[in-house]
Amino acid sequence: MKKVIAIDGPSGAGKSTIAKHIADLTGFSFLDTGALYRAIAVGLLNYELDEDSGLTKITETLKKLSIKYENGSVILNGIDVSKEIREERISHYSSVFSALKPVRDFLLEVQRQCAKDSNIVAEGRDMTTVVFPTADMKFFLTATPKIRALRRFEQIKDDYSNVTLEQIEKDIIIRDQRDMERDVAPLKQAQDAILIDSSANSIEQTVEQIMKEIKNKGI
Ligand code: DC
Repeated sequence: MKKVIAIDGPSGAGKSTIAKHIADLTGFSFLDTGALYRAIAVGLLNYELDEDSGLTKITETLKKLSIKYENGSVILNGIDVSKEIREERISHYSSVFSALKPVRDFLLEVQRQCAKDSNIVAEGRDMTTVVFPTADMKFFLTATPKIRALRRFEQIKDDYSNVTLEQIEKDIIIRDQRDMERDVAPLKQAQDAILIDSSANSIEQTVEQIMKEIKNKGI
């Protein structure tokens, strides 16, 4: 395994944006693992499965899915689904399906494979605890639900005119709860992860804070 900088944290904490900057500055590749869970959701929904479908059916259907992460794009069974995975219904279903063990097992190897050939900055919910427990550097990036909702609202309000800030905040709180309370690989701060609260920070300030820690460690 090459070098891994692992970043976990709740939805909307800015992990992707920050991790992309860190990848650029270190020359590492960027791995957005949420995008992989989102692609699984698209795949399972394409087969008309939902939270009531049962583990046997879901496990069988997973065998029909092939997911690849190539240069920042997510390819599901040969089709680039990078845009579709950002829809709000996919945000919901990726959180729902990601609580299931067969889904997590399915993606474990896909994620580890990404660190076989290149140094990576990987972000998600269980990078520091399950997927890369021996990562060279671990961060837990968070912000208050209100700030996270506001950032998300700013991102999507032009594309989804009927979405409200209140609804986004409500959804974020529900997703946090589901991600933190699930039995398999719940979102939590690893003991050896550095806590970064970005609530009052600009992107640049957070990137600077993280880069300082990385340089201190000599990575
Ligand atoms: O980071 P994101 O919002 O794109 O992730 C979408 C969902 O995928 C999120 O609700 C939880 C799940 N996820 C996960 O369980 N483990 C990861 N490593 C990444 C994402």
